[in-house]
Amino acid sequence: MYKESTNVVVKHLVNRLRDVRTTSNEFRLTIEEISRIIASEALSDFETVSQNINTWQGPLDVEMIEVQKLVLVPILRAGEPMLTGILKTLPYARSGFLAMKRDEETSQSKIFYENIPNLEGKTVLLLDPMVATGGSLIDGIEHLKSRNPKRIICLNVLGSPYGVEKVQKAFPDVDMYIAQIDERLDENNYIRPGLGDAGDRAFNTY
Ligand code: PRP
Ligand code: URA
Repeated sequence: MYKESTNVVVKHLVNRLRDVRTTSNEFRLTIEEISRIIASEALSDFETVSQNINTWQGPLDVEMIEVQKLVLVPILRAGEPMLTGILKTLPYARSGFLAMKRDEETSQSKIFYENIPNLEGKTVLLLDPMVATGGSLIDGIEHLKSRNPKRIICLNVLGSPYGVEKVQKAFPDVDMYIAQIDERLDENNYIRPGLGDAGDRAFNTY
């Protein structure tokens, strides 16, 4: 299943990302904000655990998200601000890392580094802002699946119809929550209208 956000605030924020006047600092902060909104959509029915807390009027039984069952995995580099944003909401969530790079000529992605905690019985939020050909996400999902997670949910900011469909076809059991699906993939495998290279925009390297 994939779910494109219908939230007008999310659309507003995505359009700020497209604007070339948006500085790299604002770009990262905007990605953080979008990520927190789509994470809350994705986790709206996530398992909770009872806790007894002390409030200003004494002890109270409350339900809290079971963060022990969650692992956040950004695909670096562009996924980093997504992790930073979600950790502001769920600071005790475990995180793992996948560093991947798409070859500019062939658009094939390659994993350069990984550090993934035990995923048995966990739900993974796989974080990558861009789904262009879908190749990076598919490689990332394959890598995580070999660790037997209970479930993988992808959080993405922009996708092409081609890339989203390809990921869904490859992994029908993986849900995707995406802020916006744009018109198309261009001849250089960039999303149009898109926002350019998300990693370069975020880290000022273009
Ligand atoms: C970008 C983006 C995705 C990937 C999407 O990363 O962040 O990971 O490309 O393209 P695909 O769907 O065709 O695989 P890139 O490899 O440029 O690395 P970066 O995050 O370091 O910029
Ligand atoms: N990666 C990006 O950052 N942007 C695109 O449009 C495609 C791949």
